[in-house]
Amino acid sequence: MEQKKRVLSAIQPTGEMHFGNYFGAVKNWVDLQQDYECVYGVVDYHAMTMPYQSKKLRENVWELLFNLLATGVKVENLFIQSLVPEHTELCWIFNCFTSYGQLTRMTQFKDKSQDSREKTGDDFISAGLLDYPVLQAADILIYKADFVPVGKDQEQHLELSRNIAQRFNNQVGKEYFVLPKSLYTEVPKVQSTADPSRKMSKSAGEKHYINVFADENRIRKQVRSAVTDAGDTPEGSMSAGVANLFSLLKASGKQAAYDALMQDYEANALKYVDLKQGVADALVEISTTFRNRKAELQADKKTVKEQIKASSAEIRKIAQETVKEVKDLVGLMNVRF
Ligand code: TRP
Repeated sequence: MEQKKRVLSAIQPTGEMHFGNYFGAVKNWVDLQQDYECVYGVVDYHAMTMPYQSKKLRENVWELLFNLLATGVKVENLFIQSLVPEHTELCWIFNCFTSYGQLTRMTQFKDKSQDSREKTGDDFISAGLLDYPVLQAADILIYKADFVPVGKDQEQHLELSRNIAQRFNNQVGKEYFVLPKSLYTEVPKVQSTADPSRKMSKSAGEKHYINVFADENRIRKQVRSAVTDAGDTPEGSMSAGVANLFSLLKASGKQAAYDALMQDYEANALKYVDLKQGVADALVEISTTFRNRKAELQADKKTVKEQIKASSAEIRKIAQETVKEVKDLVGLMNVRF
């Protein structure tokens, strides 16, 4: 049998999961499990690079893991980054093969530095934030991943990972690391239903995202109040709000309803209430399944946590092997005490 290619991805533990996260990333993780060997991390070391609360971090990690399991990610594919401390060890080694200038030019570093200043009103920017993409390179290369599913915003970081791998390979005089490739898949862009000109996101406030685990009433209410026409749509084209509702319907797998409503739209006979009803039904159906699964998982939290620890330990073996080889190659000590 042909060896499956390995996919690596990771996500930061930041509170609730909304339909933008789900349709834009998590659903793709779930689907990729069919054809690839998948390794998915919850990256708590990364979460420390911006101002954060120590008390909340661990709680957010578990919450995210329960959410990922409830949405269909397999437990054996999941690990917690801080249970695999080799990531940080490899990160240090990679720091020495990374151009400081290139790090300062990273778009995300510039954006997040700005965010941090605005949020805290203080000039403190952690060196961890500058180093963030090097730790990300370690996440990817430590598992010798073939593919990384990325959105546009992470392309620059993946390019840096390839630069680091290349410089490392040059240093040690062999093609030790495979250069990871981006894996592009079509994912819908989900906008805020309250303001379709912006992305669905938590940072903009409660009405700008729909929680994947929200109850039926809340979802129906949010969809009902979705903006359909802001009055700035050119004649003959679809408004951003209506397009977003269609896109949610399609992402939910309701192709038949989508086609029928699109026909109405083209015949100039679309009633927004019908479109909203269709979207609300679809989202409620998904969230009901997820909420039930989450409740089952939460009924036995201890077992689930043990499973995650065990899968982290299993995944860690790959990381330990890589770091051992890397230390040999770069001239560091490898002694088992
Ligand atoms: N930087 C990614 C994000 O903000 C999260 C991440 C950390 C990641 N390490 C990774 C993504 C490794 C892919 C691969 O979404």
